[in-house]
Amino acid sequence: MQKKILMVCLGNICRSPLAEGILASKIDKNKILVDSAGTSNWHVGKTPDPRSIATAKQFGIDISNQRARQFTVSDFDNFDHIYVMDNSNYNDVISLARNEEDKQKVKRILDVLAPGESLEVPDPYYGGDSGFTNVYKMLEEAFDIIVKELSD
Ligand code: 4NP
Repeated sequence: MQKKILMVCLGNICRSPLAEGILASKIDKNKILVDSAGTSNWHVGKTPDPRSIATAKQFGIDISNQRARQFTVSDFDNFDHIYVMDNSNYNDVISLARNEEDKQKVKRILDVLAPGESLEVPDPYYGGDSGFTNVYKMLEEAFDIIVKELSD
């Protein structure tokens, strides 16, 4: 059975598009489907932030075809795992959960690196380009572990 993985941040233009692009580059698309969404509707229909597109490109990944969308309750039915970037995303997604099964699907993406520490992927939107490289490296490190877990 194909596993379905959703990446979630606030705007779906900076962090979760990078997360989607990195994971998509590491997996067999027949086995794993990856998508991303934002908790807000602020940038629906937009391409990723140019700084995210440029950062991904530096590492050989093209995310320019992605378009932002808002997280919806139906995502709990359509995805097996929902990875959020920070504690605010976590609280926003959990507040939409209908039951315990929905809640169990939601995880902070950096939990695989430091379980129980509630580490956050910092929002790079208002910072400089280095914030995007920092985000990329954190995500890459987390995915090295997540990809192994998904293939078990
Ligand atoms: P993201 O970053 O949640 O990683 O996509 C942000 C993008 C836009 C805004 C905030 C964060 N904004 O305030 O518009």
